[in-house]
Amino acid sequence: YYIGVDLGTSALKLIMMNSKGELVKSVSKEYPLYFPHSGWSEQNPTDWFLAVKEGLKEICEGADDKIAGISFGGQMHGLVILDKDDKVLRPAILWNDGRSTEETDYLNNVIGKEKLSELTANIAFAGFSAPKILWVKNNEPEIFEKISKIMLPKDYISYMLSGSFATDYSDASGMLLLDVKNKKWSQEMIKICGISEDMLPKLYESYEPVGTIKPELANELGLNKDIKIIIGAGDNAAAAIGTATVGEGACNISLGTSGTIFISSKKFGVDSFNALHSFAHADGNYHLMGCMLSAASCNKWWMEEILKTRDFIKEQENIVNLGENKVFFLPYLMGERSPHNDPDARGTFIGMSMDTKREDMTLAVLEGVIFALRDSLEVARSLGIKIEKTMICGGGAKSPLWKRLVANIMNVEVDVPISEEGPGFGAAILAAVGCGEYASVETAAKSIIKIKEKIKPEADLVVKYEARYQKFKRIYPALKGVFK
Ligand code: XUL
Repeated sequence: YYIGVDLGTSALKLIMMNSKGELVKSVSKEYPLYFPHSGWSEQNPTDWFLAVKEGLKEICEGADDKIAGISFGGQMHGLVILDKDDKVLRPAILWNDGRSTEETDYLNNVIGKEKLSELTANIAFAGFSAPKILWVKNNEPEIFEKISKIMLPKDYISYMLSGSFATDYSDASGMLLLDVKNKKWSQEMIKICGISEDMLPKLYESYEPVGTIKPELANELGLNKDIKIIIGAGDNAAAAIGTATVGEGACNISLGTSGTIFISSKKFGVDSFNALHSFAHADGNYHLMGCMLSAASCNKWWMEEILKTRDFIKEQENIVNLGENKVFFLPYLMGERSPHNDPDARGTFIGMSMDTKREDMTLAVLEGVIFALRDSLEVARSLGIKIEKTMICGGGAKSPLWKRLVANIMNVEVDVPISEEGPGFGAAILAAVGCGEYASVETAAKSIIKIKEKIKPEADLVVKYEARYQKFKRIYPALKGVFK
């Protein structure tokens, strides 16, 4: 068996896959997420590790001597820092944390976007690791001085499990410290951040083993001692593997806490404005990606915080007026990354009247998320990339209505894989490849991942949603000044 660990923001999800690529079991564990100030977002790495240990114990029960490998799909960009005794120095600053606006501006305007793009293939976004390292340097100098190791969330887990200080190219791409094209740390970026290369993990391909489980942990969890730890990938690259988004021009949409549109490529490439991230893929190739900071989390906020209900499906069953809604919602509850790069942006409802109903507002939230993702799709289309179909995964992919909206707002066929657990499945596939079960990530993903449903765009709705998208596009530029 192979275990895929998806270290998400809202929860930890583990899946067990057998050697035929079938899902055997899954387990989920929650941990807290803290918003200490508006736009800040933190979690405790020790909470993650506790959940991983409990989750592994539970999922491996009864099969403890048949587990060959464990791998990961981890929330990206999170800054985890340890001192010389491997003590966590402060809570992890997550991918959707917007505190580093000054440092981001410094990198983009003083170092310069062109220079950053030349060094790393990307520009600075507040959630990326490098601006957050500079934030710690500027705001918590006594902590900065004690830094001995800098790592990403899943790398902390793999370090705790195996003792090997490692990362992979897909996740390292989001640190703004990696020369993505040449797959090595950028010495200039290391200098700009005031750190040294020995603070950074060793680089691997996502499917490479970095060690075996520590004997004392194997004992504690009742597992066999030769379980391989395979480094795994950032959750989006892992999700792409778990939806067979490999090869040239394949697309995956993830509707998780974040919303992403991921386009795989055999060649390295950058768009001229760096509106999309240019990162390494978990299959050894590259990808372009647009990332919005609040996707399924907008719906969760609207349902749980505002409507005080947890029955998302029932709420959506009352919605009938697709294409006719007059209400718009801007989904920028944590600011926005792609394509606006504006940590100050916030959510908005607009266009209500006396006959607006609860369902119209709910629909506006679901539509707003997909309109905002379409902004990134349009950047990809402007580069000449043809996207006529996409895979889909993440918690939001459980909603039939949301999938239909993706098809009609983006005018693409939505191919739904057997499981929406993209990152967990991808991680399990990486573990299987790392243990020699398959010859390559691409062959493994293509033979394991099957499509269970195809949702086609509906001509009348595509026309209606095109008109609505054109209006949606005008709202953020008109309101930008209000959010500052
Ligand atoms: C990607 C990103 C998010 C997180 C979510 O750039 O920041 O999708 O990886 O876990």
